[in-house]
Amino acid sequence: MRLTATLVLSSALALGATSAVAADMPEFRFNVTDLPERGDVVLFADNEGLSDLGEELDQILGGRLSTALHRHEFDGSFGKIASFHALAPFDTVTVIGMGDEMLTKRELHDLGGHAASQADGNATVIADGLHSRIAAPGAHIAKGFALRAYDFDKYKFKDVGTDMDDPQVVTLHVDDADAALRLFDNDLVHVVEGVYLARDLGTEPGNVIYPQTFIERVQPGFSGVSNVHITVLDEADMRRYGMGVLLGTARGSVHDGRMLIVNYTGGTPGDAPLALVGKGVTFDTGGISLKPNANMWYMKSDLSGAAAVAGTLLATAKRGENINVVGVMPLSENMPAADAIRPGDVLTSMGGKTVEIGSTDAEGRLQLIDAVQYTQQEHDPYMLLNIATLTGAAARAMGDDYGAVLTRDWALSLRMMKIGDLAGEDVWPLPLNDGHFEQIESDIADIVSTAGNPGASIGAAVVGTFVDEDLPWVHLDIAGVDWQDSAKPTIPKGHAGWGVRFMDELVRAEADK
Ligand code: BES
Ligand code: ZN
Ligand code: MN
Repeated sequence: MRLTATLVLSSALALGATSAVAADMPEFRFNVTDLPERGDVVLFADNEGLSDLGEELDQILGGRLSTALHRHEFDGSFGKIASFHALAPFDTVTVIGMGDEMLTKRELHDLGGHAASQADGNATVIADGLHSRIAAPGAHIAKGFALRAYDFDKYKFKDVGTDMDDPQVVTLHVDDADAALRLFDNDLVHVVEGVYLARDLGTEPGNVIYPQTFIERVQPGFSGVSNVHITVLDEADMRRYGMGVLLGTARGSVHDGRMLIVNYTGGTPGDAPLALVGKGVTFDTGGISLKPNANMWYMKSDLSGAAAVAGTLLATAKRGENINVVGVMPLSENMPAADAIRPGDVLTSMGGKTVEIGSTDAEGRLQLIDAVQYTQQEHDPYMLLNIATLTGAAARAMGDDYGAVLTRDWALSLRMMKIGDLAGEDVWPLPLNDGHFEQIESDIADIVSTAGNPGASIGAAVVGTFVDEDLPWVHLDIAGVDWQDSAKPTIPKGHAGWGVRFMDELVRAEADK
């Protein structure tokens, strides 16, 4: 069955006139020759001391920088930061240790992030002589800087006429400025844009972002980008497909449910795509199984999976990666209401299988049940990854450093751990076996949506029931990592946009195959 989908273009295009991204990215200048004469300066040092340009700066300062470092017993070990405020004519001079080892991509990003943490306004970053086998390491310093410099301030009062809205200008001294500029402008900047988009969507409150406005935020970013086809399903379309389970999650809300599909065909025409499916609950009250009040505000970010999928598709399409990728984002708001679904209700999914509702607060898996079936039926992917803030159980098990990865295939889990390590977004496996699938047998329906412990495995089994056993399938539960209560080197406090860098790395690995 292939149905014509409704394209919601008009309102999205109208919105495109205003800024689609809430936070401004710093402006990076790579092709500079003269060392700065004032302002804020950040530089890197190893265990041996300053770089060549760092030595020049020290000479301009009459040796006062090396003296200050010596007094501080600064040893250049990785991530150590020494900041000096009395080295006129500069406002601040900050030295960041880069250690002695060859720097990996994620270490370069972390160094750039540390630099951003030390520079609020315009700044100069001296990054010559980086030890790394990565091409154009300076571009990765800029990427890390941009990731950390994200600042969501659109709801803060601003005096008219102040320059608070001017973008931060960051001047970088790097060894191969042309290569760094090319890599940053043609590629890495788009990953940062994707992360910014995901963070914007995850940070915006529930009264601003609901299914239709999610789409209106995402769609303008793709205008003019080649090989992108966007489809929006409204509730009438969803009814025609028989998506009774996804529709159930939207029933209590005044905002209709939607499904957003971004199909990027930059690869060989006709090749099966990689499918990325993201949970998009624009606010999760728990529904009739109402959540307690404490920290419920934070459920405005229960769309983190869909936001990460949108960001990844944006990055992939804008750099023109040679691959076919389809991003599928079911969208609904989980609210209690007279017509909301109840615990015990039985809903029928797209393929005809029925689901007994254990708790209306287990709504993410309900979205995914219909979304993964739609994805397989309409796009026939060779691999399917779904990403969701699915369970508090995963958050408790993983803390805020690791996403949980669940698969039917240990080798695939191990591969995902490698991807995460490269990306700077780590994942760690949780179990999924036949026992978990048996636990969700229902007395009156085909399955029941909840079954106690282990919560993350049960959630995965519910979704996995609807994924063809022969299809390589990865389930990421990111409930612990999507929001960071304190800053990390490349993440300011708040919504992390977690998953864009992970899936971006996966897309690169798949495109290279
Ligand atoms: N969105 C929540 C999961 C969540 C919890 C995300 C904490 C981030 C932080 C999800 O919809 C949910 O409510 N899950 C329930 C499932 C339970 C009812 C089986 C949970 O984890 O308590
Ligand atoms: Zn939820
Ligand atoms: Mn819930």
